[in-house]
Amino acid sequence: MTAYLNGQFLPIEAAKISPLDRGFLFGDGAYEVIPVYSRRPFRLDEHLRRLQITLDGIRLANPHPLEEWRALVERIIAANDFNDQSVYIQVTRGADSKRDQAFPIGVAATTFVFTAPLVTPPAAQREAGIAVISAVDNRWLRCDLKTVSLLANVLLRQQAIDAGCVETIMLRDGYLTEGAASNIFVVKDGVLLAPPKDHRMLPGITYDVVLELAARHGLPHAVREISEAEVRSADELWMTSSTKEVLPITRLDGQAVGSGTPGPLARQMYAWYCAFRDEVMRKADV
Ligand code: PDD
Repeated sequence: MTAYLNGQFLPIEAAKISPLDRGFLFGDGAYEVIPVYSRRPFRLDEHLRRLQITLDGIRLANPHPLEEWRALVERIIAANDFNDQSVYIQVTRGADSKRDQAFPIGVAATTFVFTAPLVTPPAAQREAGIAVISAVDNRWLRCDLKTVSLLANVLLRQQAIDAGCVETIMLRDGYLTEGAASNIFVVKDGVLLAPPKDHRMLPGITYDVVLELAARHGLPHAVREISEAEVRSADELWMTSSTKEVLPITRLDGQAVGSGTPGPLARQMYAWYCAFRDEVMRKADV
């Protein structure tokens, strides 16, 4: 697999960074995960815009202008021989000669890009829906930034795995924030509900697509605070992300969600999502 590291394209096995890299020492960096279908990145500019927002938020200069990022991603996609990919970008504050929390002076950022086959949920999982647990959201208060400091997310997601579940849904002060690696939607009485984009959650690219599709198809929806009671009495729960797409949740903390099977709106939204993605991909052809 070909990767990119600080100006060089090279086999992933040959990509090496210093142990003094601040990504390694402090989790001091930003990242993105971009889905690629039939060799075309989906919503690339939106991902690159969010990368810029994260870099601004952590006061790290973007090592590449937009055009260079686009070219870099295209080159990584072309250099690898699978069609559907998941492109990973990481930028850290680089490697100094010492360990000090304060920003280093005159140190170049570390830029790393690699790709892997895109693994979307298998059909059986989509048909059955997934089981999740809930937990208190104990992360910091800049969850809107996509940083590599992910220890809280790692522990929260492992809690789900240990319970034989797929994801952990987080609640802060009694309100839904998001999943450990996804955004969460609620359906109640035919209305799609989404938590507001603020410092408590990552503004998902898929989250935006879902709300755009709800608007386009006239599905009633509202963006507002969602209480724990509303989560527990939902007719449907969905998780969304660039790799999970739109996935129905059918069990929460061992209890059935709604009917306990994937709801009609989850199926509908997934169909709209696939159609929209294919439409965008066809446009990219011309
Ligand atoms: N995770 N919230 C969190 C905490 C996430 O980590 C992610 C994505 C999302 C969904 O964002 P998007 O729709 O832009 O993928 C929400 C990626 C896929 C990851 O860390 O692997």
